[in-house]
Amino acid sequence: MSKMIGILTSGGDSPGLNAAIRGIGKALLGRYGMKVIGFRDGFRGMMENRTQLLDSDALSGILTLGGTILGTSRDKPYAMPVAGKLMDMTDVIVDNYRKHHLDALVCLGGGGTQKNAYHLMKQGLNVITLPKTIDNDVVLTDVSFGYDTALGIATEAIDRLHSTAHSHHRILVLELMGNKAGWLALGAGIAGGADVILIPEIPYDVKNVASAILRRSHSGQGFSIVAVAEGAVSRQVAAKRDEAGKSKDSKKKEQKQQAQERVANNKPGNSLHLAQQLEELTGLESRLTILGYLQRGGTPSAGDRLLATRLGTTCADLINKGVFGVMVAARGDGVEPVELKDIVGKRKTVPLDHDWIESARSVHTSFGD
Ligand code: F6P
Repeated sequence: MSKMIGILTSGGDSPGLNAAIRGIGKALLGRYGMKVIGFRDGFRGMMENRTQLLDSDALSGILTLGGTILGTSRDKPYAMPVAGKLMDMTDVIVDNYRKHHLDALVCLGGGGTQKNAYHLMKQGLNVITLPKTIDNDVVLTDVSFGYDTALGIATEAIDRLHSTAHSHHRILVLELMGNKAGWLALGAGIAGGADVILIPEIPYDVKNVASAILRRSHSGQGFSIVAVAEGAVSRQVAAKRDEAGKSKDSKKKEQKQQAQERVANNKPGNSLHLAQQLEELTGLESRLTILGYLQRGGTPSAGDRLLATRLGTTCADLINKGVFGVMVAARGDGVEPVELKDIVGKRKTVPLDHDWIESARSVHTSFGD
């Protein structure tokens, strides 16, 4: 009897998900004669037993599509909103795995998904994962798919902002995604030649940012581009956050509340305040652009299609060999399985001595520190 494999996508959507589904599915079907089903909308769809057959028809024509044909959600198996309450639905998910006689479950996602997959692995399921996120913050993989596309989009945005910045002699602040890790703002900032890059890993002093802009202005460069990650904070805010006595829980609660307020008021995060502060401190006009979900949308780059296909087809090989409890990672020139237990609860932030930071400083980019 042919083996049956389930696939789901979880967390924020990301370019390259469909390329990965296609890579896994085509290799499982064609090379190994297995059957593949997808669960709709991440772990929620697995709990609700909403499936979709992934046969060769379903897998064709999706390589270049953005988003995920399976849909996604951020719901966790052990804390799923059901009838207004957070419920542990792990048993229902495990039952549905058994009901479909699955031999393995493939979970495509970022750090949260790796954790959820590990949780299911501990319930005895054969789980294997792929790293997906535009934030590029999954540990033990050189890169995650989605990042390259987002990097291209963010860099193009900086390129386009340059023309209006120098025409109007303005400060243009561009808010990019990256709440806890600054890879996207750093990479795009360097590639697009931003004059200031602000990332969560390096708390900034707004006076230092203003000085860097004024230095440019005095040397005849009447405009500046500031690439700021959504999670970048000033030194004062960072110090407050680190204040002794604040439990992890209350920090999380506070962040969640702030995020909800921002959505309710349709207001951006710190970046609007930053743009206003820079205008006051420099006397130069400033404008804010928030790139938002444009960073995650649309056709995946060639690099992400290639990466997702390499990871996806290797994932199929590993399933065939019976290797589970691992994430399929890009390491050096190759693709390797790394143990899920070594990934869970960790985040790949930008090391302060990373060579990208050094390179940026060498071309006179300010980090506001
Ligand atoms: O994790 C990817 C990401 O795009 C982050 O950069 C961003 O902070 C977050 O997702 C946004 O989440 P949501 O899609 O739930 O609004």
